[in-house]
Amino acid sequence: MRSWVVITGCSTGIGRALVPLCRAAGWGVVATARRREALADLPPGEDLLLLELDVTDAASIAAAASACADLPLRALVNNAGYGQVGPLELIRPEELRAQFETNVIGLHEMTRAFLPLLRRQPGARILQVASMLGRLSIPLAGPYNASKHAVVALAESLRLEVGGEVAIVLVEPGAIRTAFRDTLAKVWGDLPERARGTRYELVIARYLAARKEQAERFALSAEDCARRLLIALNARKPPRRLVVGWDAYWIGKLKALLPASWWERLLRRLYGLA
Ligand SMILES: NC(=O)c1ccc[n+]([C@@H]2O[C@H](COP(=O)([O-])OP(=O)(O)OC[C@H]3O[C@@H](n4cnc5c(N)ncnc54)[C@H](OP(=O)(O)O)[C@@H]3O)[C@@H](O)[C@H]2O)c1
Repeated sequence: MRSWVVITGCSTGIGRALVPLCRAAGWGVVATARRREALADLPPGEDLLLLELDVTDAASIAAAASACADLPLRALVNNAGYGQVGPLELIRPEELRAQFETNVIGLHEMTRAFLPLLRRQPGARILQVASMLGRLSIPLAGPYNASKHAVVALAESLRLEVGGEVAIVLVEPGAIRTAFRDTLAKVWGDLPERARGTRYELVIARYLAARKEQAERFALSAEDCARRLLIALNARKPPRRLVVGWDAYWIGKLKALLPASWWERLLRRLYGLA
């Protein structure tokens, strides 16, 4: 009997790339997205269940868990997320709250809803998609950094609590080429207007351009990242941490090595905040 995996955020990016890889490796996939139409082009099959799921909507999470009640679920990939960026001084509480609703509370609700189903299968695992920004913070991405630090903390506590029954894998990617950076501009809202005439106006314009350029130059493809996730899904002994990409690995090391004052000076220079 095939094992099944539930994946959130399959409309684009890492989640979408993971669906065909899992199916090709023999998994049954519950592919979920906020809009069902976003999944319409996935080739149908007995190994695929499509569900509409918004991780900020408790009723939709409960409905998804009921729809999976009879499946031999062996894995959950909490992948859905977005990046709220902007200087903290200009970020409104509702923007910070919304960031946490998706990246943290949504992930937590998914975990709670699916743990009872996963527990029934030996070797079950949950992949919590954090980020290298769950271990270090950059300027102009405070809400996102905070949400991913929270994901890391929740996963580490959860592992201590349930790790004997269900393995908890923290996925910590560096830059990955996905729709993520287009979404950054979408969640700007009126931030550029708020920044007009402040010291952040130029900094924000440079930030957006640099993020895109960095992504195009150095980032891994969503498929390469998804392949790493698949290894963790298939591993007999899943890793505790999955650091994906040279940047995630080396920038983390650099931060650990440099004195804090050097690290901060470097980042301020890089982001035009010096
Ligand atoms: N790309 C990177 O450089 C990078 C680096 C480190 C970590 N990550 C993390 O990797 C994960 C996947 O991101 P990605 O790079 O693949 O970006 P992406 O292409 O923008 O995909 C994000 C996915 O999350 C979904 N999503 C957002 N809010 C949701 C909600 N409330 N309920 C359900 N789904 C929701 C999006 O659905 P819609 O289409 O409906 O918006 C989309 O399917 C995220 O957790 C992100 O933080 C990405």
